[in-house]
Amino acid sequence: GMYGLKQQRQDTAVMGIVGNPVSHSRSPAIHNAALQQLGLNAVYVPLLVDDMAAFLRTFTDADWIGFSVTIPHKQAALEGAQEVDPVAAQIGAVNTLVRQEDGLSLKGHNTDWSAAIVAIERGLDPAAPSSTDASSSPLAAKRVVVVGAGGAGRALAFGAAVKGAQVVVANRSADKAAALAAQLSPPAEACSLADLASGAVRGDVLVNTTSVGMHPQEDESPVPAEALSGYQLVFDAVYTPLHTRLLKEAAAAGCKVVTGDTMFVGQAADQFRLFTGKEAPVELMSRVVLDSLK
Ligand code: ATR
Repeated sequence: GMYGLKQQRQDTAVMGIVGNPVSHSRSPAIHNAALQQLGLNAVYVPLLVDDMAAFLRTFTDADWIGFSVTIPHKQAALEGAQEVDPVAAQIGAVNTLVRQEDGLSLKGHNTDWSAAIVAIERGLDPAAPSSTDASSSPLAAKRVVVVGAGGAGRALAFGAAVKGAQVVVANRSADKAAALAAQLSPPAEACSLADLASGAVRGDVLVNTTSVGMHPQEDESPVPAEALSGYQLVFDAVYTPLHTRLLKEAAAAGCKVVTGDTMFVGQAADQFRLFTGKEAPVELMSRVVLDSLK
């Protein structure tokens, strides 16, 4: 990132989002708005890619200063990176690849977990600093129920564990919940969605990482309203729609709620910093996303 923009370059630096599908991604709109605001000689493009390994062998030009990575390439991005951030390696997913000083190699990061965790920390304590460790985080010693054990579930579960939370992984298929729980240190609890629904398992913070709630016509929630009381805060990674049934019912039950746009904007802002070495215009990026959701 810094590599590409530090030199007084004449050539336009290029960034892109690599995925399949990728045409509906809001990432180009928010990154280009931010680049333009800062007056940087750089552009961010969508890249429809089938074979991530082949793509990484081809796009070695130093003008490509970084890539955002989305479904289904986050694991292949980890495998293709020459260096990987330790938390991204634990999660097993890289959503950001940054060109290094040598102008050739790429370092993999995961900005999904940090963005979501900061949004939750701010929700719990609006005065929380942007970077906390396990001793100072508002999540420390909180019981955090992560619903879902896919890529996003892994990111949130490892992220909460980094902050010293007591993690519970709840998932439709029990074997996936148990497998993820066992990988955390200390090992997390695992439970079924029925255990949440019945109130047998409760917590302080509930995080939805499944796609349940994304289809407004179905109006579904992963956890019934009766089971939400007692949670201090509920976060939903789904942001289309912004106010999912889960969040509406959580607010009605007296929980604080954090909407998923915070995670999307936060992961993009962290990427922007990694790509350019400059502070991201977060307010602008947030406005672009919220406008696109109207
Ligand atoms: P992502 O990378 O967005 O996390 P993923 O890796 O495909 O996507 O994971 C999807 C998660 O949503 C899984 O935890 C999945 O549960 P299973 O492991 O049982 O498949 C969960 N999920 C998807 N649709 C669901 C539904 N209708 N009800 C409950 N959980 C669902």
